[in-house]
Amino acid sequence: MAFFSGRSLSIINDLNVEEQWYLYQKTRELKEGLAAGKTMEDFRIKDEDFSMYLLFLEDSTRTKESFRNAAAFHGARVNVFDSTHSSFNKKESLTDTIKMLVGYAGRSLFIIRSKQEGTCTALSESISEYAHKQKLPTPAFINAGDGKHEHPTQELLDEFTFLEKKNWDRSIIRIALVGDLFHGRTVHSKADGLRIFDEVHVDLVAPPELAMPEYYVHRMKANGFKVRIFTSIEEYLEAKEIADIWYYTRLQLERMGEKVLDKAESLRKAVTFQKKYLSKIQDGTKFYHPLPRHREYPVVPTFLDHTELNGWDEQSMNGYFTRITEIAMFGGKIGDDFKGSETAKEVFNDDFIEELEIHSSSSENKKTDMKIGIRPVENGLVIDHIGKGNTISQIWSHIDKIRRILNLNTVASHGVYKSNRTGLYKGIISLPEINDFSDTDVKKLGAIAPECTVNIIRDSKIIRKVRVHMPPRIYNFDEISCRNENCISNPELHEPIVPYFFRSNQGSSGTTGEFICKYCEKPHQFQEIWSDK
Ligand code: NCD
Repeated sequence: MAFFSGRSLSIINDLNVEEQWYLYQKTRELKEGLAAGKTMEDFRIKDEDFSMYLLFLEDSTRTKESFRNAAAFHGARVNVFDSTHSSFNKKESLTDTIKMLVGYAGRSLFIIRSKQEGTCTALSESISEYAHKQKLPTPAFINAGDGKHEHPTQELLDEFTFLEKKNWDRSIIRIALVGDLFHGRTVHSKADGLRIFDEVHVDLVAPPELAMPEYYVHRMKANGFKVRIFTSIEEYLEAKEIADIWYYTRLQLERMGEKVLDKAESLRKAVTFQKKYLSKIQDGTKFYHPLPRHREYPVVPTFLDHTELNGWDEQSMNGYFTRITEIAMFGGKIGDDFKGSETAKEVFNDDFIEELEIHSSSSENKKTDMKIGIRPVENGLVIDHIGKGNTISQIWSHIDKIRRILNLNTVASHGVYKSNRTGLYKGIISLPEINDFSDTDVKKLGAIAPECTVNIIRDSKIIRKVRVHMPPRIYNFDEISCRNENCISNPELHEPIVPYFFRSNQGSSGTTGEFICKYCEKPHQFQEIWSDK
């Protein structure tokens, strides 16, 4: 079976850079072949048992039509669903709908656009599991845009277009991202997609209300990109080096509250190109846009259509070619000649429990806890250093959460104290009736009050002492959920999807880390993932 068969593309990083390069090379071969009048049979799936499902739960013209035409190239059976004509209106979950469709087909490929973020990541997992159980072929999923999260197939056509413009020179790119960088999923995918170039200079041009979310700016920097930030085109044109690739995005004011709408005019003005700027643009510059552009207020005005700056028409046509290649890859037709390496599966080191040395002269063993009001424990557990260094009210909230979530309805005493040694506040819970914690409880503890310690006490002596850090992964607990109301795992959507978080690697030791939702990738402070009730 070909290398890419049954794989899914939920975020651009689901293909590593070598795999993306393969896709661009193949698309180039296809586009040139078709232009020369060849039929390119080697790319065509032509398999009666191969079905494509186009589920567009948000509006789309270009993405949907280019996929539909690309499917026709392959001779695939195509079924188009949209939110107005299906059981979604009868409140069926997406998971149930797709389970049913997988059962009808031989091999299947789902192209999904939805308002809910992380939909493809969630479905590719849960449906693959289902297909495996039912002994059905593993379906592939392609994300055709999920909320304001990502748009990986747009990213692939954009990078293909940039590579064509650069005559396939991958050494360096200078690009300006202009417009609504906050809501624009196509620019979010660029935080990783631009890694196809060795050296990347990104200029972000947007007023503060529409600025690129911090998360993606960090990501770009972590990928080694040189990032500059400007609040308007006017300001950008005063800068020293101006990019020769400008990538515009539409203002998605419909996704914004009324407060911002009052400012609509000035926001538009900041990112709309004007005639008077033309003299400041260097020769060879191209403007791109994922389209659609607003017919009344286009950020790339129509007077530019017949100029050399117009790169967006060619860009839009490339969507057809790159999508033929994507279907050929995930449908198992091409890929055997891929020579690059596979992405290694991430290994999680469950390193969150750290054994600490017990000093026989330590303050705990001298029962100095008494001095600060905690009842000495003869046999039981003492959780110490809760929220150390936080404010008093934050520490009380950690204590509350620990008691509630670990269900500690036993005799206990607790409190917030000032450490004599460091002068910092910390919380302590002493539990004379509890003799040990389960692994699950310790894991929860690490995610509710990272860096606390647990002392196990027998006959008034500490026999074991551990420090608990933030766990690298946390899932399968009823009390956690993603705070993004548009995330596919949000309980209010009633999809059977288990909330799941990864610890971000940004905080070096895990002490300052965040939890990232596996599906929508929203970063959370560790406290945020826990329910309040
Ligand atoms: C974009 C999208 O839907 O994210 N368009 C597209 O896919 N061609 C951009 C947009 O809606 O502004």
